[in-house]
Amino acid sequence: MTTVQLILLDHVVALLGVASWIASGVTAALRRSRLALGLFGGAVLVTLARVATVAALSTRGWWFAQEKVLLGLPMLGVAGLAAVLLAGPRLLAARRTPGEALPASGLVALFTAGFAALAGLAVTFLAGYPLTWSTALVAVAAVCAGALLAARVVATPAAAGAEASPAPALSRRRFLGVAGGVVAVGAGGTGVGLLFRAPASVVTGGGPAAAGGGATVSVTDLRGPGTPAAGGTTVRHTLTAGTGTVTLPSGREIDAWAFDKRLPGPAITAAEGDLIEVTLRNHGIDDGVTLHWHGYDVPCGEDGAPGATQSAVTARGEFVYRFRADQVGTYWYHTHQTSHIGVRRGLYGTLVVRPRDAGRAEELDLTLPVHTFDGTVVIGDQEARTVHTARPGASVRLRLVNTDSVPHRFALAGAAFRVAAVDGRDLNQPGEVREVELRLPAGGRYDLVLSMPDTPVALLLDGDRDGGVLLTPTGDAAGPALPDTAGWPELDLLRYGEPAAVPFDVDRADRHFTIVLDRGLAMVDGRPAFAQTVDGRGYPSVPDQLVAEGDVVRYTVVNRSLETHPWHLHGHSVLIVSRDGTRFTGSPVWVDTFDVRPGEIWEVAFRAGNPGVWMNHCHNLPHQEQGMMLRLVYDGVSTPFSHAGHAG
Ligand code: C2O
Ligand code: CU
Repeated sequence: MTTVQLILLDHVVALLGVASWIASGVTAALRRSRLALGLFGGAVLVTLARVATVAALSTRGWWFAQEKVLLGLPMLGVAGLAAVLLAGPRLLAARRTPGEALPASGLVALFTAGFAALAGLAVTFLAGYPLTWSTALVAVAAVCAGALLAARVVATPAAAGAEASPAPALSRRRFLGVAGGVVAVGAGGTGVGLLFRAPASVVTGGGPAAAGGGATVSVTDLRGPGTPAAGGTTVRHTLTAGTGTVTLPSGREIDAWAFDKRLPGPAITAAEGDLIEVTLRNHGIDDGVTLHWHGYDVPCGEDGAPGATQSAVTARGEFVYRFRADQVGTYWYHTHQTSHIGVRRGLYGTLVVRPRDAGRAEELDLTLPVHTFDGTVVIGDQEARTVHTARPGASVRLRLVNTDSVPHRFALAGAAFRVAAVDGRDLNQPGEVREVELRLPAGGRYDLVLSMPDTPVALLLDGDRDGGVLLTPTGDAAGPALPDTAGWPELDLLRYGEPAAVPFDVDRADRHFTIVLDRGLAMVDGRPAFAQTVDGRGYPSVPDQLVAEGDVVRYTVVNRSLETHPWHLHGHSVLIVSRDGTRFTGSPVWVDTFDVRPGEIWEVAFRAGNPGVWMNHCHNLPHQEQGMMLRLVYDGVSTPFSHAGHAG
């Protein structure tokens, strides 16, 4: 069973527990003794089953089970045991004397077990990992309040009825005492706990704390060079961001936010060693705009992260980005301000850097960003199928770019191919594959290379046999009948390509950070929200991760939630170490974005070699907006920009 199946099963069992305990209380109060006994038996069994599901979950990783083991199950265990002791014998006896009332204490115990089950479930859904003292206090107090309320209700003469136990008042007093005691203990424990738990604003991952004392460099000083490398030229662009209607070639009108009134924005291409100089202007994006070079490890001051590396460019403002094109490959750019709206509506474009040696170029080289505008899927700038001619034997490169917030599935029908690069970085000796599905995370890129056969080749997106891209040797647009690619297996990069040396030992990290992704109640931008959380918090309340230049840094990224989170670190590519404990054994895979699916645990590592203050977030951009973001901060680097200046 996969971890996410286990998570779902545990949720179902937990819900059944809530329902069966409460139902047994209700039926017992209504003196439906046989039914109450049956439900009571069911509740006991379901509670035991819950112990099993939680135990199984904890073997997948403590992060999946911590709050259940430390709080949910103990609460349920205590309340359930009380219910068994107080209500069990009477329910069994009532089999022979149906219609007899249960004593108030038994009824209250049954309801309290239900409340405890409910509170445990609420803690999982609202607070999650890590469990805090305040969460525990609130949960225990809520169960006590529920018990008191139940005691009050069942102890009133009207509800208790003529045959009620003669001692409800005593029972109620006892519950008042117990509940009050528990609340006092909980409050005391929380107070003591809080004294020792100063809210961290920075975590060090087991490495040394900030050295302090030394001079700090500001991100505003970490700017790119002013000249190209020897032999390179300067590639200049001016991008003007604005709003307006953009008409696609099909005639469909998009109410867009766009660069230069184009969807996507102008394609930026350069040769290795060129200087890229882009002037960004804002003509009408009220929230402001920036340019972030996704996957490109630019100097930090060029990174376009509002609130970290610059202030957003406001109306009529301007910012000039300059960096050397020294990474070859397929990348993209997008606004990082209000990006969950800006990128979706069109503030994005591609960045492709080719080797200076033109001899390595393919005959047909297509850059294919995929984007969805209000349900309309656009590949490049076309929503209809596009046709390209390639002579048989021609070398072809297809640069797939996912600019959406969700993964896309690609299939290439009619030819064998290789995945030459992932996120712009070449794989080592990628083998030829065919009839496989390629799942591209949000923000990610795959470069496919193939030798054109003498028959047509089709690129399908998400199984759509009408759209996509057709390559034909003849230029004939009629195209072949396309296969159903739905059953094709997904290509797993875990064992693809050949191993090669990597520049550091992933098992000797200087710092190790764990990032637990979930949903829950947290502060986001100073407001409480049902947030997308990192370690139970939302940005900007998530502590910064501190590193020092040269550190080997390891991340464990855990997804406790039921949604996929494409994790993206700025300024660095990370080497994938393992997924769910299984090592990657093929080519080293360096990525800037990796999909952590529900229940998965990813280990990645990188060398901290690009000083700065870097955003580190989920690239499902609405998730980022809802709090799933933090910062990676180098010791000795400061920023004059704060999140407060970021209109988010
Ligand atoms: Cu492509 Cu911070 O993002
Ligand atoms: Cu996410």
